[in-house]
Amino acid sequence: MALACRRFEDAEALYAAVARAVVARARDAVRRRGRFDLALAGGATPLPLYRRLAESPLRERVDWTRVHLWFGDERCVPPHHPRSNYRQVREALLDRLPRPSARVHRIRGEYAAPAAAADYARRLTAELGPAPRLDLVLLGVGEDGHTASLFPDRPSLDERASPALADAPPTVPEPRVSLSLLTINAARAVWVLAVGATKAEIVARVFAGDATLPAARLVPVNGELIWWLDAAAASRLP
Ligand code: 6PG
Repeated sequence: MALACRRFEDAEALYAAVARAVVARARDAVRRRGRFDLALAGGATPLPLYRRLAESPLRERVDWTRVHLWFGDERCVPPHHPRSNYRQVREALLDRLPRPSARVHRIRGEYAAPAAAADYARRLTAELGPAPRLDLVLLGVGEDGHTASLFPDRPSLDERASPALADAPPTVPEPRVSLSLLTINAARAVWVLAVGATKAEIVARVFAGDATLPAARLVPVNGELIWWLDAAAASRLP
């Protein structure tokens, strides 16, 4: 499977490049369509990217009032909980953006997962129509090959009725809400960030086309897929 990837000598170079690329996408979407719908990844990998977007000069290059920030997934915990993806994004990005700022569509992790997923799906379709098409979905990848909160061997992988779903995999401490694979693959662009040696094995398996891995099922229907890798995460690739 020929997957498009951009490799960088180190994480610093990767974050500098992907931050500039996100800003370029945002400016292009606002110019063309008057808005930029961006789904943010959870986990630790994207946090240095979010901090860069909130710093000058990049922060001033985006009209944040035209940006809609969505989430690829959320843990079902309250928004101030240490494991909340929203809390991480708020601290790394949202609290540092100029006012007025982006519209933030938080997944209500304080709700029970099914109710949170239904609420999120309702907002996605209200904002973007019955088949939501995001401009850019940022994702990470877990060492088990999960992405967003789409985990291996879970029926949620085949969700086609709703843009958002709830799942409670036994491998994670709390129930989850996630964009469905269908909605992720409907995006104009899907960018996966993988940094560090711990991701080398799973990146190699994805690039070898191991279809049992949710991250290997990221195949935008009519959009761009790019894997952003530092040398450590790419070290097992041919
Ligand atoms: C989450 C994330 C998840 C994450 C991977 C990688 O809520 O945990 O959305 O999909 O991207 O688990 O996490 P790290 O970036 O922390 O390695």
